[in-house]
Amino acid sequence: MNIKKAVIPAAGLGTRMLPATKVVPKEVLPLADLPAIQYLVEEAVNSGIQDIIIITSRTKTAIEDYFDYSPELEAHLEAAGYGEKAAELRKFADMANIVCVRQKEMLGLGHAILTAQPYVGNDPFAVLLGDDIILSERPVTLQLEDAYREFGGMVIGVQEVPIELISRYDSVKMSPLRDRLYDVSAVKEKPRPEEIYTNYAILGRYILSSEIFDVLRHLPPGHGGEIQLTDAINALCGTQRITAVDFEGQRFDTGNLRGYLQAQIELSLRHPTVGPWLREYIKERAKTL
Ligand code: UTP
Repeated sequence: MNIKKAVIPAAGLGTRMLPATKVVPKEVLPLADLPAIQYLVEEAVNSGIQDIIIITSRTKTAIEDYFDYSPELEAHLEAAGYGEKAAELRKFADMANIVCVRQKEMLGLGHAILTAQPYVGNDPFAVLLGDDIILSERPVTLQLEDAYREFGGMVIGVQEVPIELISRYDSVKMSPLRDRLYDVSAVKEKPRPEEIYTNYAILGRYILSSEIFDVLRHLPPGHGGEIQLTDAINALCGTQRITAVDFEGQRFDTGNLRGYLQAQIELSLRHPTVGPWLREYIKERAKTL
């Protein structure tokens, strides 16, 4: 079965990026000249997904507005001779069928996923976390879909992180299948030293089955008092096949300033017009550092 729907949870408070995120959702902060969330929607669309559910909150109406038409602005651009820009804005608004759903209380990532249930129904679906921007030749969600088509069940995207940092992520217990594929037997959110399985962590990409909703609904709050998606996945280990894909791609956590700046530099260097200029600027600037 092909994956037709994706959920992008984007309701988090963004405390690590304050004060910028006091009034601007981190998902619309620019990376080069596109808001961060555009890269995620493009990844989903390039993975064959047309129906996208974005989980937002009452302070994040800018996300919804970004994917709407802007008739006054488009008309102004047309009249001023910037027809191409107007067409580009229209193209982005029409890129996918986007539904924004509000998470009314910030009860955690697991709770955000549960908010999407009425729109997802019983089909398997992809999840792309708003903070994780991943640059790759083959879209990471498509890499997970390849594994899903072969093994079914659920799929998580993993990469190695330095062992001293694994307690900030989750730790995945897994055994090799072949190439970059692993069979998962347990996952632990924010492990204490004695709870670390491996230094492989789930980094922002999932294919989930609808069975996750029942588990999430009955799950007690976990780490930080939040309903944790990792706890729900762990509860399904053993009853569902769960495959880990050690995905190919460079991942940035744009939810913190360092990761955001790295993604900013990498994406700006790739930008067709400012990229060559920025390369020269950085080289010059580095001489005086
Ligand atoms: P994080 O806890 O890593 O990010 O959530 P955050 O809450 O946005 O940012 P900080 O930690 O306060 O700086 C991981 C993902 O889950 C979403 C976030 O938007 C992010 O994509 N999330 C988290 C929700 O949608 N709802 C929640 O209640 C919590």
